[in-house]
Amino acid sequence: MKIVTILGARPQFIKAGSVSREILRQREASADITEVIVHTGQHYDANMSDVFFEEMQIPKPDYFLGIGGKTHGAMTGQMIEKIEEILVQEKPDWVMVYGDTNSTLAGAIAASKLHIKIAHVEAGLRSFNMRMPEEVNRILTDRISSVLFCPTQAAVDNLNKEGINNWQTDAKVVLSGDVMQDGALFYKSLAEKPPGLVVSNNYVLCTIHRAENTDDPKRLSAIFEALNEIAENQQVVLPLHPRTKKITQELQINTQNLTIIEPVGYLNMVWLIDHCAFVMTDSGGLQKEAYFFAVPCITLRDETEWVELVEAGANVLVGADKEKILDAYQNASNRFANEDCDPNLYGGGQASERIVSFLNQGFLI
Ligand code: UD1
Ligand code: UDP
Repeated sequence: MKIVTILGARPQFIKAGSVSREILRQREASADITEVIVHTGQHYDANMSDVFFEEMQIPKPDYFLGIGGKTHGAMTGQMIEKIEEILVQEKPDWVMVYGDTNSTLAGAIAASKLHIKIAHVEAGLRSFNMRMPEEVNRILTDRISSVLFCPTQAAVDNLNKEGINNWQTDAKVVLSGDVMQDGALFYKSLAEKPPGLVVSNNYVLCTIHRAENTDDPKRLSAIFEALNEIAENQQVVLPLHPRTKKITQELQINTQNLTIIEPVGYLNMVWLIDHCAFVMTDSGGLQKEAYFFAVPCITLRDETEWVELVEAGANVLVGADKEKILDAYQNASNRFANEDCDPNLYGGGQASERIVSFLNQGFLI
């Protein structure tokens, strides 16, 4: 069985890291699986890309397309064209795509027109906000996928409500669990403090990069005003995404109270999550990682795809409203006890094994 994996953005390297490790493990146990990796180049800085391949020992991409830093149409269109050429040549049994980025959609469209089966990892998530590029990417990808690997029961429910059984495809919905939990469990003991960083013993870990915040000066300014106030009491460590760095510089947003650092590799990030007081973020992945490490999360978005975290009281949504952010900060709980966090909410760390076995054998282990 041949799988072509399409990836290109930071969270996809982290997700694919666990699945690639499982493919190698099953191959060593004599399963007939080959993985061909296509890196679209959507993320290209060393600290947004290479570092994850090195740390997670992801096989070197077989193809690197170098398509990054472009508008949505240019990026997605150029990716479709290049991926199509590769798929015609490689003739895989499956194309595997992850999450909801432009690389995900491009891989899915190229495969579907060649009638190659698509496996979508992290299927079924919805924010119900069609202004988000991620929501458009994930809905369209789900619609043309053959196997939809859902990280949560909520994702399965979303697909059923959309009438997946009426889509007139043979699409299969599989509750696999979340591959990000596999990675968090695997790398916890390998985590390393970012070299040279001085942190207090109760710092706040923050990340911001979503278009809905960075591309709206009012929202971005309100978030940074709130962060600067918080930083008067408590250290705020912010590994800054290049998109946000560029825009904060252009808008001359004051960040001087904050501990701004370059994006870090996964081992450093796991250390930062594991040692912080709480997380403030608009990232999808980080909301769950906070939970995996029993850390409360304040989410700088108006909605989340990870609704079970809000229901469990582990995550509070504050949007980009300064008063709401400060209010949530004042009321933020201490770190949870490990036993307060349900280890099975996201599948218990076996998602990669379930996914690879399903593709290889056609049923869930
Ligand atoms: C993308 C995804 C988003 C995901 C995020 C993960 C889409 C539509 N968005 O957003 O869902 O949460 O990745 O981080 O696919 N840049 C660099 N160096 C890099 C990468 C990006 O300088 O290595 C800068 C460039 O100016 C680029 C901008 O960041 O134009 C935005 O990058 P892009 O990949 O378009 O979107 P992200 O905001 O990273
Ligand atoms: N991450 C990282 N270094 C950083 C910031 C984030 O390794 O400096 C990791 C984070 O722990 C998570 C993933 O990147 O595993 C999330 O990616 P991102 O926030 O870029 O995208 P999203 O999840 O919002 O799509």
